[in-house]
Amino acid sequence: MAKARVFNMVKRFSGYPTEEDFQLVEQELKPLQDGEVLGKTLYLSVDPYMRIFVVDLPLGSPMIGEAVARIVESKNPAFKKGDIVYGAIGWKTAFVSDGKDLTKATHLPAGVPESLALGTLGMPGRTAYFGLLDICKPLKSGDVVLVNGAAGAVGNVVGQIAKIKGCVAIGYAGSDEKVEYLKSIGFDHAFNYKKVDLHESLSKAAPDGINAFYDNVGGDFADTVILYHMKQFGRVASCGSISQYNLKPGTGDKDLSVPKGARLQGVIVKQQLKIEGFIIYRFTDRYDEANSALAQWVKEGKLKWREHVTDGFENMPKAFIAMLKGANIGKAIVKNTE
Ligand SMILES: NC(=O)c1ccc[n+]([C@@H]2O[C@H](COP(=O)([O-])OP(=O)(O)OC[C@H]3O[C@@H](n4cnc5c(N)ncnc54)[C@H](OP(=O)(O)O)[C@@H]3O)[C@@H](O)[C@H]2O)c1
Repeated sequence: MAKARVFNMVKRFSGYPTEEDFQLVEQELKPLQDGEVLGKTLYLSVDPYMRIFVVDLPLGSPMIGEAVARIVESKNPAFKKGDIVYGAIGWKTAFVSDGKDLTKATHLPAGVPESLALGTLGMPGRTAYFGLLDICKPLKSGDVVLVNGAAGAVGNVVGQIAKIKGCVAIGYAGSDEKVEYLKSIGFDHAFNYKKVDLHESLSKAAPDGINAFYDNVGGDFADTVILYHMKQFGRVASCGSISQYNLKPGTGDKDLSVPKGARLQGVIVKQQLKIEGFIIYRFTDRYDEANSALAQWVKEGKLKWREHVTDGFENMPKAFIAMLKGANIGKAIVKNTE
């Protein structure tokens, strides 16, 4: 009988998650029924949303998340042994599924690692694609695009799509190594937000202001940009607010420790800004469009990818916490080495 190792969430996060919030257990998987597949997980994703989407997850449940897997046995005609799939598998080394949540990774170009279906050619890449091209529309050549969290899974793709579309790309990230990486993949300006003054550096890099602000960070950063740096008719894609996710008590947007107040309305009116939040699932029926555009740019060498890979399923909690603290350049991935 097939077995799986599974990480359950056993404690509510308070501030940054800790390794004690998770418990590693071994489970026997039920024999396959008609319509089911057995999958072995190859790569697992650790993402910021896991920090905030588990607020209501019953304790003792498997931790949520996407993974790439190989089908090892199939009683479902839609899948055959050897197929590479991705989907909401959770933190598990193996699983039985009816296949409804699994998608074949047929969009990956030859020669790229299968893990790209979790990053540049996966949910983060699609988030960058729709957030920039739909939420920040109309994006024109020459527009100045600003992205924070720029060296991460979503941010690096945002900057590179901006360049593909003929825009000026400005990125902020949390280390000098990340700044060098951003310059190496074509960002026009890149800054270490821990070292520079945001207002000063942005005034120099974009003296005429920002047309499109892709906000992954929220908080003070977003406040400063929206108050002082948006051009008339500027667009803001509110993609995430990672600067707030680990504040105690840590319930994201319902967190009582987030300062109250609304200083932005005046400038939103005066500069006629459009600020729009979005969640990638809004675009589910257009995933094929994003997948093929992103894959084509990867094939043409216009869209570079980088991963921060941690070996060993047992290191899932460590990798998750490290990602939240900024250890990754590019997509944070865990490789199941079993
Ligand atoms: N709306 C959607 O559907 C959707 C989908 C996917 C992702 N997102 C959001 O997009 C953002 C980026 O996600 P991702 O998957 O690409 O993660 P990521 O950027 O690969 O990893 C998280 C990064 O956040 C940065 N960070 C952590 N604490 C920070 C702070 N206090 N201030 C500024 N930066 C901080 C760290 O980089 P530094 O070293 O630069 O600090 C870290 O590497 C997140 O806010 C996430 O929730 C939204």
